[in-house]
Parts: sequence; C-alpha cells; structure tokens
Amino acid sequence: MHMPEVEKNALEVILARRSVRRFTKQEVDRETVKLLLEAAVRAPTAEHREPWAFVVVQDPKLLLGLSEIAKPLVAEEVRGFRLERTQHIVDMVLRPDFNIFYDAHTLIVICARNNGQFSEADCWLAAENLMLAACAVGLGSCVIGSVLPALNTVEIKSRLNISYEFRPVAPIIVGYPQDKVAPTTRKEPQILSYVSAPSVRKTSILDA
Ligand SMILES: Cc1cc2nc3c(=O)[nH]c(=O)nc-3n(C[C@H](O)[C@H](O)[C@H](O)COP(=O)(O)O)c2cc1C
Repeated sequence: MHMPEVEKNALEVILARRSVRRFTKQEVDRETVKLLLEAAVRAPTAEHREPWAFVVVQDPKLLLGLSEIAKPLVAEEVRGFRLERTQHIVDMVLRPDFNIFYDAHTLIVICARNNGQFSEADCWLAAENLMLAACAVGLGSCVIGSVLPALNTVEIKSRLNISYEFRPVAPIIVGYPQDKVAPTTRKEPQILSYVSAPSVRKTSILDA
C-alpha cells in the first residue's frame, strides 16, 4: 500500500475531520483514491462479508449532469416535509449555479451488496474510514446523502455500472480543501447509564 507522510495520529484525525464544501481545482490522483478505498475496506464487517463495492467519478461533466438530475428530486423531497423553514433549502438547491457536489473533483459512492442485515452498517463504517483517511492525507470530504434518490434511478445505476446486486448507500465527495476550517462542535455525549461493578469494600465482622 502506498503510505504517504501523515502529520496526525488517529485520534487527532478523528477530532480534526469536518465536512468540506469548498475545494481547490487540484485533482485527486488515482493512487490517492486507491489509498482511500484500501482504508475503507479495512472497516469491521459483519460475518466477514465485506459487502461493499465502489464507484469513482472524476468526470466534471458527468458530476454536473448528475447534480442537475438530483436537484429537482431533492427539492421535491424537501417540499414533501411541508415545513416553512425548508423553503430556503428548495430555493438554494434549485439555483442554476448550485452544484450538489460543491464542484468537488471526485465522487466516491460506496454501494452495499443486497445481502445480510448489516450490509448498510458495514458500508457506513467503510465510509467513516474513508473520510478519516482523506483527512489524514490533507483531503476534505463530505457525505452527499441528498444525491441518493438520483443514484438509485435505473438510468444512473446503469450508467455507473451498478448491477441489481448492489445499491448506492454512501456517496462521498473528496477534494483538496480551499480553506482551513475548524471542526464543527458537538454536544456533550449523553450517557444514559454507566454501570460499574460496585467497588469492593473490605468488610470486617465489626461492619455487620
Ligand atoms: C448520512 C449523511 C448525509 C449527508 N448529506 C449531506 C448532503 O446531502 N449535503 C451536504 O452538504 N452535507 C451532507 N452531510 C454532511 C452533514 O451536513 C455534516 O456531517 C454535519 O453538518 C456535521 O458537520 P461535520 O461533518 O463537519 O462535523 C451528510 C452527512 C451524513 C452523515
């Protein structure tokens, strides 16, 4: 495996990762894509099934076309929520210059084999591995869940060679970040219970 120099350890990468939506024009080379896929397939996998397969798109024309197909589907879905505060999302998505992939150079779609109850879970674990590896080598990434309805149409599945055995699960854009941005914040972990064994107390017959 091609091992580039990395500056951060695993925990530092986890804490530094954030969704990136502004990219430079620098292309992601094949060797780097291969490295990301190798990191993806190191994810834990139920019953060792490895139920994933990948589509890589680095054709800007195809990405723009896919974005244009996806946009009305996203708007339709968001309108279905019938909430007033979602109108701005519909407006943004339908803007002619809006690209659902934020002009990223590369789209990687993790597809799940249609077998086993944990196929999707395995693919999401692979997705996180891929995004952390991207962060470790200085790339930015973002899950683009909103493109899933478009990816699941017969036409797009056929164009991307996704056979009936697979379904697209985790579309991830990858590219070189335009700016250095801090990770987003999180709430404190909510701990519903934390059960420890009662501490063993030295007892003497006098305690009784
Ligand atoms: C399942 C899933 C779907 C997502 N879909 C989109 C999307 O369609 N467009 C987008 O810009 N971000 C999308 N995101 C990114 C989230 O908005 C982002 O992870 C969240 O705001 C937290 O920010 P962070 O990743 O920088 O910590 C998605 C994330 C997940 C996990």
